[in-house]
Amino acid sequence: MIFERKHIISTKDFSRGEIDLILEQAAKLEPYARQGRASILKDRIVATLFYEPSTRTRLSFDAAIKRLGGTTIGFDTSTSSSVAKGETLADTIRIVESYADAIVLRHPREGAARMASEISSVPVINAGDGAGHHPTQTLLDLYTMKKECCNGREIGDLNVAIVGDLRYGRTVHSLSYALSLYGANLSFVSPDQLKMPPSIISYLKKKGSRVKETASIQDALGEADVLYMTRIQKERFPDPSEYLKVAGSYRITPEMLDGVKNGMIIMHPLPRVDEIAPEVDGTQYARYFRQSFYGVPVRMAVLSLVMGVEV
Ligand code: CP
Repeated sequence: MIFERKHIISTKDFSRGEIDLILEQAAKLEPYARQGRASILKDRIVATLFYEPSTRTRLSFDAAIKRLGGTTIGFDTSTSSSVAKGETLADTIRIVESYADAIVLRHPREGAARMASEISSVPVINAGDGAGHHPTQTLLDLYTMKKECCNGREIGDLNVAIVGDLRYGRTVHSLSYALSLYGANLSFVSPDQLKMPPSIISYLKKKGSRVKETASIQDALGEADVLYMTRIQKERFPDPSEYLKVAGSYRITPEMLDGVKNGMIIMHPLPRVDEIAPEVDGTQYARYFRQSFYGVPVRMAVLSLVMGVEV
């Protein structure tokens, strides 16, 4: 029960063994994610507090809790809560911790989930904090790689090309930290303005990761086992004109996939804007919709572990 009452804030806080344990738990729970209901979280209440828009994270947490027999409370925009009257995040957490057995929090401010975890007596699960971290997205990304990629090869043997907004994209920050635990080869593809922050590059190199940086998707495509596309995070640009300079930098089309590795998969945390042409959806490479589904068993695993429930 190493996760019981633990907060889930950043993949930097995990060991590889801990991640593998969550993924094993997710595999056990996957049948419940597909259909029916279990009573593993019966009598448990989980608060989902979303201060930023979300479709997948919020609804897959909701589905995970309900499929395991638990109940959810919370809000999905700060305008429908007392946040609109000026209540601070700290006060909101102090209130909600007395109503719920765990808190799932998405917030636009980097560091918000860590701050909430320092106040809350119940586990806080970071569902995305600004350009910071998105640990449960990474767990479902790793689960997808294990299940879907490359004829069963180990994650550490894979070449993972991560493309798009590496500066503001929290999913790619969290994923890169976790992949460094497995020793995967990382190729970062971005416009110059959206490169992976230097502090993260140094961290990854210190951990022994092989890291390549390029602006050309063609440089990475031929070698990739996993092509991880991301959206340019328009909402995080301080200056909208800077966004316009990089919008639409990368777009995968079926023609670009001639000559890629056998078994290569394309992932995307979604939502997509125009990074993946809809014509790619029906190809053998597309895994992004199945990846979204895996959010349910993985979040079931995280919830049951932090609440100390045996499966
Ligand atoms: N991948 C992801 O976090 O999607 P949502 O913003 O829809 O939750």
